[in-house]
Amino acid sequence: IRDDAQAASRYIADYIIERINAFHPTPERPFVLGLPTGSSPVLVYQHLVQRHKAGQISFRNVVTFNMDEYVGIPRDHPESYHSFMYKHFFSHVDVSPDNINILNGNAPDLEAECQRYEDKIQRVGGIELFLGGIGPDGHIAFNEPGSSLRSRTRVKTLAYDTILANSRFFGNNLDQVPRMALTVGIQTVLDVSYTATYLPHKTSHFQAREVVIIITGPHKALALQRCIEGAVNHMWTLSCLQMHPHPMIVVDEDATLEL
Ligand code: GLP
Repeated sequence: IRDDAQAASRYIADYIIERINAFHPTPERPFVLGLPTGSSPVLVYQHLVQRHKAGQISFRNVVTFNMDEYVGIPRDHPESYHSFMYKHFFSHVDVSPDNINILNGNAPDLEAECQRYEDKIQRVGGIELFLGGIGPDGHIAFNEPGSSLRSRTRVKTLAYDTILANSRFFGNNLDQVPRMALTVGIQTVLDVSYTATYLPHKTSHFQAREVVIIITGPHKALALQRCIEGAVNHMWTLSCLQMHPHPMIVVDEDATLEL
C-alpha cells in the first residue's frame, strides 16, 4: 500500500526495472513482459520512460505482450490499445518493433489470431512478469464478469459497465465504444508461472514468474475488497490471482477503503 497513485506507480516501475536488470536479458534469452493499457498504468510508463532516458534501463532485449485490444477500430485510431502503447511507452524507449506483440483486433479470422497469440506466448517460454490493472468491476484485461477461470486468449463481448467506464475515452459517447475485444484469458495470466516448461533451460526462473497489479482510486475499492477478501470466483475475475504463486497487488490508500 502506497500513499497515492504516484508512489504506487513509482514502486512498480522501480520493481520492473530491478527485475529486468537482475535478469540480464540477451537476444537469446529476452525478458518477456506482459503489459496493460488503461489510465492506471500511465504513470508507471512515465516512470519507466524517465528512467530509460536517465540510462538506467534498456528494453532492447525485452519482448512485450499486451493484454488486450479492441475489435474493429483501426490500429491507428487514437483510442486503440496499439496507439495507446506507442503514445505512452513504445515510442519513448528502445524496445525493438519486432519484440512488440499486440493482438490484432482487425484480423480476418479473430479466433485464429487469438490462437496465434497464445502459441507465440508459449513459444517464447511464457511471460516473466505480467503487469495489469483492473476495471471497477474487478475484471483483468477484458475478462469480464462471468469469464471462465480456464479461459485463454479469445474474443470477448464487453460488459455494459466496461463500455460505460471506457466511454470517457470516446467523448463520453457510448455508441463510439467498441462492443468487442480480444483478450488474454484468465488461464493465460495464471499460466505465466508454468509455461517455463516449454523451455527447460528457463527452469531456474520458474519460481520468480509473477503477476503485478496496480489498483488506484476509491472507485476500485470494492473490486479490490471482493478480489482479495472474497472467494475466488468468475464474477470478480481478478480473484483468480489468489491461485497464482507469485502475485503482487500495489494499491494507493484510496483503493483500500473497503478492506
Ligand atoms: C480496460 C482494460 C483493462 C484495464 C481497465 C481499467 O478495461 N482492458 O486492462 O485494467 O480498462 O482501466 P483504468 O486503469 O483506466 O481504470
